[in-house]
Amino acid sequence: MTREVLIAPSILSADFARIGEEVRAVDEAGADWIHLDVMDGHFVPNITFGPDIVKAIRKYSAKCFDAHLMISPVDPFIEAFAKAGADRITVHAEGTVHLDRTLQAIRALGVKAGVSLNPATSEQEIAYVLDYVDLVLVMTVNPGFGGQKFIPAQVEKIRRISKMIGGRDIHIQVDGGITPETAPLVIEAGASCLVAGSAVFGRPPYAEAITAIRAALPR
Ligand code: DX5
Ligand code: ZN
Repeated sequence: MTREVLIAPSILSADFARIGEEVRAVDEAGADWIHLDVMDGHFVPNITFGPDIVKAIRKYSAKCFDAHLMISPVDPFIEAFAKAGADRITVHAEGTVHLDRTLQAIRALGVKAGVSLNPATSEQEIAYVLDYVDLVLVMTVNPGFGGQKFIPAQVEKIRRISKMIGGRDIHIQVDGGITPETAPLVIEAGASCLVAGSAVFGRPPYAEAITAIRAALPR
């Protein structure tokens, strides 16, 4: 496998009292993207942060800010996250009624558009939007919290989505329970980008944690 795999540490597991410094630290430790988990206490049973925090931490890294919006409704907030500095915005298929419109609205702001699927959602939900997305995010835990156990049944979903994507230039990102043990399973199935929260922030030094994930990948 020669494809380059991207590692996106999730700041959900960072020390929120030092969030800017934590972003700088994972940037310097070799993160490819910075994954930003936005939660509203409605779509998911937890609350994190909004566009003002994204704006505040933007100056701590020049790397890609990858916003994962676990909020519903999502349409009224897309522009605010784009203006705050998100380079990519991923929404949940389950969190918006008009997914096609939502994805086109993200792209119209000059931001890369992603669509995410919860573990119980079929890959068929995205069959008709693949021409409008830059990334498909497969959740391998139920969204809301870091440090949960990887759900193995999602590996088959990743394989199916990889086939559906065909030759299109679309990343398959995987989020939830990614460790050096689970990372090779999803890469082998076709993933190209790994989100890791507790496997990076919970296992300092961060550079070693990121290297441990990369070292476990199939070559
Ligand atoms: C879960 C979030 C994830 C979370 C992953 O709702 O979307 O990004 O931070 O955490 P770990 O890697 O600890 O499972
Ligand atoms: Zn996430």
